[in-house]
Amino acid sequence: MSFTILGTGKAVPEYVLTNDELSTMVDTNDEWIRTRTGIGERHICKHETITELCVKAARQALENAGTAPEELDLIICSTMRGENITPSQGCVIQKELGASCPAFDVNAACSGFIYALDIAAGYFERKRVRRALIVSMDNLSNIIDWTDRSTCVLFGDGGAAAVLGEGDDLLSIHLTASGNDEAIRIPHGTNSSPFYEHEEERAVLHMAGNEVYKFATAAMANGIRRAVEEAGLSQSDVNLVIPHQANIRIINTAAKNLEIPRERFFCNVEHYGNTSSGSVAIALDEANRSGVLKAGDIVAMCAFGGGLTTGSCVLRWSKKA
Ligand code: UT7
Repeated sequence: MSFTILGTGKAVPEYVLTNDELSTMVDTNDEWIRTRTGIGERHICKHETITELCVKAARQALENAGTAPEELDLIICSTMRGENITPSQGCVIQKELGASCPAFDVNAACSGFIYALDIAAGYFERKRVRRALIVSMDNLSNIIDWTDRSTCVLFGDGGAAAVLGEGDDLLSIHLTASGNDEAIRIPHGTNSSPFYEHEEERAVLHMAGNEVYKFATAAMANGIRRAVEEAGLSQSDVNLVIPHQANIRIINTAAKNLEIPRERFFCNVEHYGNTSSGSVAIALDEANRSGVLKAGDIVAMCAFGGGLTTGSCVLRWSKKA
């Protein structure tokens, strides 16, 4: 037994930062950002906290699933940086929802949602849970170097949630990690110890864009290919691909290297930028709520990011509209 997805929900901050507004902050322009990335705008936290966003997405997903918080047996939050070092963001969500199940965080950067699905699948397999909540949320705007035009144009805040129930809809899932702290890295930045001898680094995102680009294009095509094969299907069986929304050119290149028509790739990067762990989860929620997903559809999801990590999976969508 694996699981079935019973409901989804999303939450993004109210404030929309356009490319034009960003162009008044760093030396960039709408044309460069759109052509090189496909991004037109992103949502940025002003008054919202990550907890408020997590709880909003979770409540929507619970409602969509017809599930009460008391029914939850597990909460996993995938995030790179929750509200606190401890308690975990999962525990904060549990408190806010009034649930009473185990809760914890997983950090696999942009692949976090798929890592969380794989962890949850193990709980279902062992029959330890009947209902699980996954919340994938990142608030990257507070760890971005807003003077670095090569990174600050790429990211946005937000995320989404999914409620899982008993079922057999996960057909394959595959995770990878190849330890690399040079391609993408965000140091902690604070150390209160008077004894520590190393220099403190600023807690901002460092990325070797070209290296990550090459890794990403290969990872997306290989991940989807492998997950489809392991599901015992062929690429033509896939009704919808939900790829990590980092850069439209990465999605287009992956599509060219696969036998899945480009129009089956769900894309919303134009409106959110790269929301890290939230990215695939937001796209899944939008595909669910917009009616793009139909009961019986075969869905392939794929993400890549810091770690370097990747996650890909194939599932059957059973939820009726
Ligand atoms: O979730 C995983 C996270 N990361 C990713 O998926 C990122 C993967 N990488 C990428 O998406 C791309 O590598 C970027 C979008 C980051 C960069 O695109 P690129 O086509 O690889 O551009 P580039 O880094 O090769 O830069 C080309 C030029 C450079 O100028 P010169 O040296 O040719 O004169 C840059 O200085 O574009 C310049 N540039 C910019 N110009 C205007 C870099 N950033 C900007 C900018 N606006 N924001």
